[in-house]
Amino acid sequence: MSTVEPSSPTATTGRVRTSGDAEVATYLEIAEAREPGQVLTPAPNAPEAVVILDYGSQFSMLITRRIREANVYCEMVPWNTRPEALSHLTVKAFVLSGGPSSVYAEGAPTLPAYVVNAGVPILGICYGMQLLVHTLGGVVEPAGEREYGHAILNVSEGEHPLFKGLPASLSVWASHGDKVSQLPVGFRSLAQSENAPFAVAADDRGRIGILFHPEVVHTPQGDQLIRNFLFDVAGCTGDWTAGNFIEESVAAIKQSVGDGQVICALSGGVDSAVAAALVHAAVGDQLTCIFVDNGLLRMGEAQRVVETFTKHMAINFRHVDATDRFLRDLAEVTDPETKRKRIGETFIRLFEDETKSLGGVDFLVQGTTYPDVIESASTGNDAAVKIKSHHNVGGLPKDMKLTLIEPLRNLFKDEVRRVGTALGLPDEMVFRQPFPGPGLGIRVIGEVTRDRLEVLRQADFIVMDEIRKANVYYELWQAFAVLTNTKSVGVQGDFRTYGHTLAIRCVTAEDAMTADWARLPYDLLAKMSNRITNEVPEINRVVYDITSKPPGTIEWE
Ligand code: XMP
Repeated sequence: MSTVEPSSPTATTGRVRTSGDAEVATYLEIAEAREPGQVLTPAPNAPEAVVILDYGSQFSMLITRRIREANVYCEMVPWNTRPEALSHLTVKAFVLSGGPSSVYAEGAPTLPAYVVNAGVPILGICYGMQLLVHTLGGVVEPAGEREYGHAILNVSEGEHPLFKGLPASLSVWASHGDKVSQLPVGFRSLAQSENAPFAVAADDRGRIGILFHPEVVHTPQGDQLIRNFLFDVAGCTGDWTAGNFIEESVAAIKQSVGDGQVICALSGGVDSAVAAALVHAAVGDQLTCIFVDNGLLRMGEAQRVVETFTKHMAINFRHVDATDRFLRDLAEVTDPETKRKRIGETFIRLFEDETKSLGGVDFLVQGTTYPDVIESASTGNDAAVKIKSHHNVGGLPKDMKLTLIEPLRNLFKDEVRRVGTALGLPDEMVFRQPFPGPGLGIRVIGEVTRDRLEVLRQADFIVMDEIRKANVYYELWQAFAVLTNTKSVGVQGDFRTYGHTLAIRCVTAEDAMTADWARLPYDLLAKMSNRITNEVPEINRVVYDITSKPPGTIEWE
């Protein structure tokens, strides 16, 4: 990759010298020599997109969100992605994310030569800026004082398109230990902060470095900066809407499916419903939806799913009650990952059985979304750490015989909802809170048995009933009950009891990447607790989970 080795003419002191295009050229020649043939070549009619190279920042995903919110399609890829992997896009600009490394650290991620050579605007954020500066011949060095938290940015070149409509002084949020001390040739400083003489810098080719983080909410005008980059520097059109997404997806699905037969796993959740509707719009009756009742659903949910799908969508629909099979496969399993794997495998096997009975099915639709993909660390980025293997991504059996169609793979939940609405799905389906594929299987902590499931189901029903009555259902990302594996002593009636402890988990979130525990009114919590201990005799203690994500996850397993 494009690192300058110590023996190269531009890095003899460990710092890169800067005076002249000749040296920049030398640098790029070295990179080119190492990456022969690495050129960005879009396929004909490839849609416009911004590509975010991920250098491992915890905020990388937020950059993706901000760009999508501006109706510009973008994809985030690991920094060392080869250009062939981007040929399905016409890249309008690159964004280099922040990251934990220092550009001078051994093995630090580098900037691929094809990115610099593509001739499109580049926005480097934090580490991305340091890398851009370092790569093009400027100097980055440890800052005397780490800049962390709020800073005031003073704009010295307000007429630059990046600052269109913005004041001369902005409150920004920074987090970096290295600073830029000398700019590459052709660059000039556009803005400064107390600890960063080059807080924003740019050249005339649309290459811009920003040392702070415009993508976080703590930079209040960060959205505008990003929009200015997208529209006024990179010339994006901003026409990526739910309608266009549907049009493009329908065409792509039609093409890959041809005359094939498709089955779709309906769970009753938003994602699979929207995925099904999208595929239905593309291939109509070639799609059969199969609803597997795994016996791990909420009270009355199976019935609701059947009603909703038969009522709202004229789709080929099959209902398979596989409760016994799932519970048999989960017997004595306590490890969460093993549960997921077993549930995932059983689920897929059932589809294979259904496939056989339908005859000649080739494709399986799944409602995998972007956070599932990222959290299962399947982006190929070494920096991403596996947290949970969500069964619809990570736990698929290796010998699965169906080809997967995952039309929502690159979408965030709010985008999935917009697509659902644009497809004409009812609000009750589109705005339903997310429910995990393994269902109550990962909300009964420890072994999943019929009895323990039933206890949880009753308590969970009360939680949801009270949440709806209090009119807070749509304010919460998720609300649910967890049956813990802790028993405790209580007194119910005149008797000493030794019963289950139930946890109530209610979170607010914009997507499932981060979440906060919901500050529910005490009265509401009291009502839930009273009802649960009165109406579910096996439970004698109720606790409320006050952990945000991170450090906790939303589910307990
Ligand atoms: P965590 O617990 O990882 O959950 O913070 C994030 C979101 O994902 C859901 N979730 C799952 N969804 N299969 C799924 O389809 C799974 O195995 C799974 N585990 C968690 C969870 O409900 C939340 O919305």
